[in-house]
Amino acid sequence: MTLGDKRILITGAARGMGREIALEAARQGAGHVGLTDVEPDGLAETEALVRAEGAEVRSVVANLRSSDEIRAMVDEIAAWAGGLDVLVNNAGVLDHLFTDADKVAVDTLDEDTWDAVHDINLKAVWLATKYAAPYLRASDRGPSIVNAASVSGMNGSGMTAYGVTKAAVLQLTRTTAINLAPHVRANSYSPGAIKTPMGDSHLASSSDRLATARAMYGTHLIPRRGTVNEIAQVVCFLASDEASFLTGINVPVDGGTTAWRGMRDVELDIDLD
Ligand SMILES: NC(=O)c1ccc[n+]([C@@H]2O[C@H](COP(=O)([O-])OP(=O)(O)OC[C@H]3O[C@@H](n4cnc5c(N)ncnc54)[C@H](O)[C@@H]3O)[C@@H](O)[C@H]2O)c1
Repeated sequence: MTLGDKRILITGAARGMGREIALEAARQGAGHVGLTDVEPDGLAETEALVRAEGAEVRSVVANLRSSDEIRAMVDEIAAWAGGLDVLVNNAGVLDHLFTDADKVAVDTLDEDTWDAVHDINLKAVWLATKYAAPYLRASDRGPSIVNAASVSGMNGSGMTAYGVTKAAVLQLTRTTAINLAPHVRANSYSPGAIKTPMGDSHLASSSDRLATARAMYGTHLIPRRGTVNEIAQVVCFLASDEASFLTGINVPVDGGTTAWRGMRDVELDIDLD
C-alpha cells in the first residue's frame, strides 16, 4: 500500500492518464481520491471505477480556465477529504484542440489558441498549486505535487503553445519545489507518446498518419507507445513516501526518446487505427 492513507486530487481525470492515475492511486491504498475534469460523463465513469477499487472518491466538475472554479474545486475536495496530501496536475491540451492541425506553427497559430493552451497547461497548474498549497502545508502525510510536463517541453516541439507551456511546467515545478520546501515536494513527469485519447486525436488529425506516427513513436528506443499504467506507476511513486528525498526533478517516461537523437529504422509496432 504505497500511498498509505493519502488524500489525493487529480485533474484531467475523465479519461486517459488521469483516469489511470486515479485507479492506480486507489489500488495503492490512497484513502481519499478527489477527481476533477470539465467533462462530466467521463468523470462519472472514473468515479465509479475508482469506487469499485475500494477508495473513498469524490468528483467535482470544473473548467481549468476559470480561477474561481479551480479554487472552489480544491476547497470542496479538501473539505470532503479533511485535507489534502497530493495534487496531481495532470490535465493538458494540444493546440489542435482549438485550431486546425496545420495551424500550430509560430507563424500560423492564432492568439485564442495560444491563450487557451496556456490557461489549461500552465496557468491552471499554477492556480491549483496556489489554492492547494495551504492544505498541503498543513498535511502531516508526506505532501507533494506531481505535474504533467512532456518530452515536447524538453526538446523542441513543432506545436507552438503546447511545447512552450510544457517547458514552462518544468520551470514551474522547480519554482514550486523551492517555494514550498522543505515540507511539500514537487516533481514532474514527461511522457513520451502514450496510448490515450489525446495521442489518438493527434494521430487522427494528421493528413499523413504514417509520418506522424513515425515522428511520435519512431524516436522511442522501446518501439511502441507507452501505456497509461506505465505513467500512473511513476506518478504514484513520485507521490509516495518512497520518493521522500526527490523534489524539483522531472522524470521522462518516454521509452528512451530523450536519451538519443535518432529515429529507429524498424517496423514500428503501432496501430494506425
Ligand atoms: N498522450 C500523450 O502521448 C502525452 C505525451 C506527453 C504528455 N502528455 C500529457 O499528459 C497529460 C495527460 O494526457 P492524456 O493523453 O491523458 O490527455 P487526454 O486528452 O486523454 O485527457 C486530458 C483530460 O484533461 C481534461 N481537460 C481538458 N481541458 C480541460 C479544462 N479546461 N478543464 C478541465 N479539464 C480539462 C479533458 O477533458 C481530459 O479528460 C497531459 O498534461 C498531456 O499534455 C500526454
